[in-house]
Amino acid sequence: MEYFYIVLFQKILVVLFCVALFWKIIRHMWSFLDIPKEPCRVLVTGATGQIGYALVPMIARGIMLGPDQPVILHMLDIEPAAEALNGVKMELIDAAFPLLKGVVATTDVVEACKDVNIAVMVGGFPRKEGMERKDVMSKNVSIYKAQASALEKHAAPNCKVLVVANPANTNALILKEFAPSIPAKNITCLTRLDHNRAMGQISERLKVHVSDVKNVIIWGNHSSTQYPDVNHATVTTSKGEKPVREAVADDNWLNTEFITTVQQRGAAIIKARKLSSALSAASSACDHIRDWVLGTPKGTWVSMGVYSDGSYGIPEGLIYSFPVTCEKGEWSIVKGLKVDEFSRAKMDATAEELAEEKTLAYSCLN
Ligand SMILES: NC(=O)c1ccc[n+]([C@@H]2O[C@H](COP(=O)([O-])OP(=O)(O)OC[C@H]3O[C@@H](n4cnc5c(N)ncnc54)[C@H](O)[C@@H]3O)[C@@H](O)[C@H]2O)c1
Repeated sequence: MEYFYIVLFQKILVVLFCVALFWKIIRHMWSFLDIPKEPCRVLVTGATGQIGYALVPMIARGIMLGPDQPVILHMLDIEPAAEALNGVKMELIDAAFPLLKGVVATTDVVEACKDVNIAVMVGGFPRKEGMERKDVMSKNVSIYKAQASALEKHAAPNCKVLVVANPANTNALILKEFAPSIPAKNITCLTRLDHNRAMGQISERLKVHVSDVKNVIIWGNHSSTQYPDVNHATVTTSKGEKPVREAVADDNWLNTEFITTVQQRGAAIIKARKLSSALSAASSACDHIRDWVLGTPKGTWVSMGVYSDGSYGIPEGLIYSFPVTCEKGEWSIVKGLKVDEFSRAKMDATAEELAEEKTLAYSCLN
């Protein structure tokens, strides 16, 4: 009997050894089939501007699409910036980024849009002193109308678009209207910077690392009417996850100073730097695309300006910032979150501003 068990044990060992060896051989052979990924073509408009200049090296380093995704950068700017654009191209070459497989630097919108898989629209017309709101809107509407057509005709199928240039939500809406064959779900605008700012404020207040804070929400417009909402946000503590409201234990601060600090953060940066936010905007644009393409971590949502489907009573036909989760390259709005009276009023106010912007933008088309 004892001999039987010894033989059985030896046989099991032999089988396990064979399985392990076989597995190693398969993995070794698989590594020969490890075909490098095709480069992804990423367009950055306004590439010589502040954000563009911070953004292109991040993309070339793999911060946007991951450390194993080669990229070909397409950079567009306007004629007066052509020389500077060439300078940025020279710097990209000099930086010898291993993932950067090519650079297209052009002032021709058709060449810029050709076969791009991702388009980050940073170029736009800034508001200058003495300019009416309608004049700025009018300039940007014509830029986004023209670039929408170029993207529609020349970008790769299923191109994902992120509009950064202000008024970001409305520029994205114009782009959507004038590129009807690009699915509405592929056109988004950046509110991730506001989302990250809100997490930053909570982490500073609670003296925890920002990565321990999650599920804040930015509702609405990327403007001072946006509503940064922490009602569903949590913070990881040594005793597990805790609602942010409970951890902060100061509703007055959360309902007043916290909200205005996030809403006015852009202005505070301009006051301090004498220039608008650039590195944080570039980094947030990378966060936005990375999560959209590669997915949000389980149990976590992010804020994205997306085409409203009527969720949370927000009118369809607006690009509005919602909480979203992303999986397999698709975002979906987080449904069923409880909205209290305070939040409702703020969510409606920012929607109203977007509706007004939409009317103004359409009046510029005539
Ligand atoms: N959504 C956000 O969170 C967020 C945050 C910060 C800034 N912004 C906005 O991003 C935009 C860019 O900011 P910036 O600081 O880089 O500005 P910037 O003025 O430094 O750069 C803008 C660039 O766009 C170029 N440009 C102008 N018209 C163009 C066109 N038709 N096609 C291509 N390029 C064009 C300009 O030549 C310039 O190089 C601004 O509209 C700003 O308000 C948005």
